[in-house]
Amino acid sequence: MTAQRDQFSSRLGFILVAAGSAVGLGNIWRFPFLVGDGGGAAFVMVYLVFSFLIGFPIMVAEIAIGRKSHRDPVGAFKVLGFPQWSFIGMLGVISGIIILSFYNVVAGWAFGYFLEMLEGHFDVGGQFSEFVKDWVRVGAYAIIFMATTAFIVSNGVSRGIERAAKVLMPALVLLITALTVYAMTLPNAMEGVRFYLVPDFSKLTPNVLYQGMGQAFFSLSLGMGALITLGSYTSHKDNIIGAAAAITLADVGIAFIAGLMMFPFVFSQHLPPTGGAGLIFATLPGVFGALPGILGVVVGALFFLLLSFAALTSTVSLMEVPASYLVDERGMNRKVAVWGLAAFIFVLGIPSLLGNGALDVFTRFITLPGHEEPTSFMDLMGFIASDTFLPLGGFLVAWFTIRVWKRHNFDTEMTTGDEIARGSWLQTYINFSITYIIPVVLATMVIITILDRFFGISIMG
Ligand code: PHE
Repeated sequence: MTAQRDQFSSRLGFILVAAGSAVGLGNIWRFPFLVGDGGGAAFVMVYLVFSFLIGFPIMVAEIAIGRKSHRDPVGAFKVLGFPQWSFIGMLGVISGIIILSFYNVVAGWAFGYFLEMLEGHFDVGGQFSEFVKDWVRVGAYAIIFMATTAFIVSNGVSRGIERAAKVLMPALVLLITALTVYAMTLPNAMEGVRFYLVPDFSKLTPNVLYQGMGQAFFSLSLGMGALITLGSYTSHKDNIIGAAAAITLADVGIAFIAGLMMFPFVFSQHLPPTGGAGLIFATLPGVFGALPGILGVVVGALFFLLLSFAALTSTVSLMEVPASYLVDERGMNRKVAVWGLAAFIFVLGIPSLLGNGALDVFTRFITLPGHEEPTSFMDLMGFIASDTFLPLGGFLVAWFTIRVWKRHNFDTEMTTGDEIARGSWLQTYINFSITYIIPVVLATMVIITILDRFFGISIMG
């Protein structure tokens, strides 16, 4: 099995594919709407702190575990000699399956909006709730998306994706940067900037903390073994710390710019920032429609096309986790495993597909403790898998790395291929965070959340 294991063609190849995994709907769709719902800048700060202080060191640990073992996230723990810890990988496989089930539906929205923009239907902004209700159409886009993902994953670590990402990711960055500059010229833009950058600490509720934490893990693709899987395709010449730093900076940077673009647009159109999952879909078509001449069609279509591509590089890595598990641990044929997964995960996503207005049971699925309004099936999946399982998985990876695998093994692995990092402050910091900061912060988060949700006690005022 491991003999013919694929490898990235270059160091940059790994960084590109890992950044492709990280950068996706999480940055451009999920981050802005959580900021909007979470009261603005206070959420942004929580997200930034969790990304750098906690996410980045966990990313280093995941890549190190993957590269040392050259196995899928379940097998990795066995190869390192701790089979009883492979449940961490199993949790990751489950998280990946759940996340992909709803992520694929949102990717279908993005693709659908690309088609709408091509046809110059700028009024779809106001018709978002009608659009997502049309489950036959969105379902068809979601099938196309899932099949494309399966096609790429069933052919192994794809060179094609590496090559495409090299062009399309910078294109996406350029486009949102240009749109951000344009957004600043609109009336009321500064109100949006203020909302986004000037924190109101009274907004810092346990819920905001929880979602900010979950978003940091989700956006960096952490806590489910996606980076163990990608790390397993790297070689000992790769530089782990440098790669993790580049991936983290790129991912956080792109989310940050996306937010800086969104809120001036939202405020200049006098839309409420609390638009929920529809925020970018409701806001952007109106912006594109106001551009002169054919420019609206071109920019609008390009935006949603690049967003769909960013989503595709993420769905590929989400699928790669359960797929590599079935291939490495269960000895399944890669094609059979991938297409079987695609069908299963699509079916699992049907309640998410129907739960945006088409069917009331899934739209108003359950009322969570501490909430007034019922939560949709899709939001529940996000709460369980993205906001709970991913941080839990990250916590377990950190615990395993220092207390089970042991620090000297981790130290050796993370600095192999990287002379500069050995003994550097960055290495010291990574160890400190994994040993102390991560267990303490994540344990505190669990306590705050349980007190708040189940006992109604808020220690945050
Ligand atoms: N990070 C991706 C995004 O932001 C989502 C993802 C999560 C991908 C976990 C892989 C693993 O869109």
